[in-house]
Formats: sequence, structure tokens, C-alpha cells
Amino acid sequence: MSTPEFDPTIPETAAREVEFISLSHLNPSTELEPVPSRGIDLPYFRRYVKALEDGGYDYTLLPYGSGTADSFVVASAVGQLTERIKPIVALRPNTTFPLVAAQKLATLDQLTEGRAVVHLISGGSDAEQARQGDYLPKERRYARTSEYIDLLRRAWTEPAPFDHHGEFYDFDGFGPGFAPYDSPIPISIGGQSDEAFAVGGEKADVFSFWGEPLDDLRGEIERVHAIARAAGRTTLPRIWVTFRPIVAATDALAWEKAHDYVARIAATFERGVFGKQLHQKGDPQNVGSQRALTFANASELYDRALWTKTAAATNAAGASTALVGSPETVAAAILDYVDRGADLVSIRGYDTLNDAVDYGKHVLPLVREELAHRMATGRRGTLQAEHLGGYTDEYRQLATAGRA
Ligand SMILES: Cc1cc2nc3c(=O)[nH]c(=O)nc-3n(C[C@H](O)[C@H](O)[C@H](O)COP(=O)(O)O)c2cc1C
Repeated sequence: MSTPEFDPTIPETAAREVEFISLSHLNPSTELEPVPSRGIDLPYFRRYVKALEDGGYDYTLLPYGSGTADSFVVASAVGQLTERIKPIVALRPNTTFPLVAAQKLATLDQLTEGRAVVHLISGGSDAEQARQGDYLPKERRYARTSEYIDLLRRAWTEPAPFDHHGEFYDFDGFGPGFAPYDSPIPISIGGQSDEAFAVGGEKADVFSFWGEPLDDLRGEIERVHAIARAAGRTTLPRIWVTFRPIVAATDALAWEKAHDYVARIAATFERGVFGKQLHQKGDPQNVGSQRALTFANASELYDRALWTKTAAATNAAGASTALVGSPETVAAAILDYVDRGADLVSIRGYDTLNDAVDYGKHVLPLVREELAHRMATGRRGTLQAEHLGGYTDEYRQLATAGRA
């Protein structure tokens, strides 16, 4: 692979501002060290969200599965334990009537003075959906999500009662509903099937991805933005991309950690001892995981620092692709994605709480300094030119050194 030429011109596709997301963990159990748990370890959860707030993150995702804690209740707790961070409620439409979801989200938004965000999950696994009585096939689940989005927005904004007789929902005389704090709550979409693109491009405020090679991600961004433009939108969906960084003081130390981590993560998944929904053997039904596995099969390492071995070890269940390196290398890799148009960057480590603290101290400030430099000078700084990671032989040797 050849070293890219350093060009101080800011790419036209670059996002100018970036916000950071993490995912809130409720107890110390990790893929590295699963611990049997009662569920929520309140002191740990308090420490975790405080670490996110102190570390300068902007949002925290509260994930949802049939066996997880309830994302709404946890989001409400996040709101009360923090002042600034915005809770993102992962919500599967099958679990909650849309007008009730609108009411719950508006309540959360008022309780947090305008910080609520919702991430709509149409469901990537038929078996997981069936656990809560949802037997619709995936295309129909996305059609339902589309109707759901319209109803959320109408419930938040219609000034007078209205009726609705749609494909999935019927009601009469609803409204006006309980309104959000001051403006409609941002709606994000997770998913990468054609149906996810169609609904997200047309209607979502945010469209989210798991970490992919740079060119592939750029192609996907163009695809969702083209759908948005074709739908007549002038404000395009914001782009959220998710990584599981493995960071240490130097690239060499980060690679030692990465090789150790992947062995431990693989052992955890072999034993099937981390969250039953995650242990799906065989080919995953959701396109996001299928793509992650295709990338992992083709290469372990992409671009500056994207490592796919963690995806291979976990059958790409959930966000699993890593960025490996020193804080500088990982920050430079994040900037590569910012240059391709990502403006919401989710980073969550495998050593969850320690990593949240480390990223806040060592990674977020580097990305923010570079963006401040760009804003002030109209040119790129030198971070990406100085920390080349996978564009050098030395780094690539470190990446393959741990191979058994
Ligand atoms: C950033 C992000 C977060 C996600 N969070 C969840 C979650 O909390 N719960 C869940 O069941 N699926 C979650 N997903 C998975 C997908 O949304 C889900 O598999 C999708 O609805 C169907 O996949 P497909 O359209 O890629 O085939 C998330 C996906 C992304 C990209």
C-alpha cells in the first residue's frame, strides 16, 4: 500500500464539526472479562456516565434487546445523573405503540431539557424479534418504521387532534400530544439493508454505520445522501460511524493489547457467556454484520488503523470493528472518517470504563484540536501526515506479529 500524499487542503466531503458518542454500560461485564451479574450495578453505572460527561462525550447510546435493561428507563437515569450528555434511546417499533413512544420520548426530552435522541432499530434477527412476538419479515419491519417516524413527528408537532388509518397503525382523535422540550427529537436509523437506506435516506435525521473501510463507508454515505436528495430533502442525514478502538501509548503497545484482546474475546464467544442475544451462530441476517464479516474475510487490516479480527471473532454481533494504535494514530484514523463525511463518531472500547476515560483524555482532544485548527486556518493540521499507521510497513508488521 502506498503512503498517501499529504495535502493540507480540507476535503470537500469533510465534516466541519464532530460530536462523540459512547454506549453506556450498566455493569463491569465485558467481552474480555464476562462477570455473572444481577444486571445493573448502580455505582458502576454512575461512574460510567460520569466518566462520559467528564471525558467530553456528547451522547450516550442506551442499547436495546429482548434481554437487556429497558432503554427508556436507563435513558431517564442518564438524564438525571448528568447535566450535558444526550441519551440516545434505542427503540424497536414493535415494542411500543408510536404515540406512546412519542409521549415517552417527549417526557425524557423535557426531563433532560432538550437532550433526548431516539435510535430506531427495525430488528436484524427474525429469532430475536419473535422473542417479543414480532413475526413481520424485515422488509415489512422497515415499512412499519417508516410509518412510525411520521407518527412520532406528528405526535410532537400537530396542534390539533388527528386520526390515522395506516398500514400498521390506526387511531382516532389523538392530540395534541405531550410536546418535546423545544424542538422535535432527532431520529436516527440503524441498519444497512436496502430498506434501511430507503427509510433512513428519506426520513432520518441521522443514519448510522459500524466501522468499515474508508472507501466503502464513503460509498454508503453517498448512497444515503442520494436517496435523501431524491426525496427533496435540503438537510441531509447526519452520519454516525461506530468503532471499538484499542489504544495504548504507542502503536506497538496497542498491537500487543489487540492480539491479547482478540484471543480473550474469541474465548468468551466460544464459551457463549456474554449476552445471549449476541451469540448467534451461522450467517447473521442483518446486512451490517454481513458486511463486517465480508470485510473481515478479505483482510484483517484496512487503511490507517481499521482492524477486523475482532469482528471475525464475534461473528460481527453488534459493533465490532476496531481502530488500533496510539492515541495519535487512532485520532488520525477518526479524522480520515471525518474527512469522508462522518460527523458523529461513536467510540467504545473492549475495556469499557477504562477505555471511556482514556479516550476522553487522549483521543477526543486530538480530534477536537485538529478540527479547531482547521476552523481557524482553513487548512488541515499535520496529525494525519505524522501518524501513518497502516500506510507504513512497520505498523503492518506489528499488526500481523501476534498471529499464531
Ligand atoms: C450504531 C448502531 C446501533 C445499533 N444498536 C442496536 C440495538 O441497540 N439493538 C438492536 O437490536 N440492534 C441494534 N443495531 C442493529 C441494527 O439496527 C439492526 O440489525 C437493523 O435494524 C437491521 O439490520 P440491516 O438493515 O442491516 O439488515 C444497531 C446498529 C447500528 C449501526
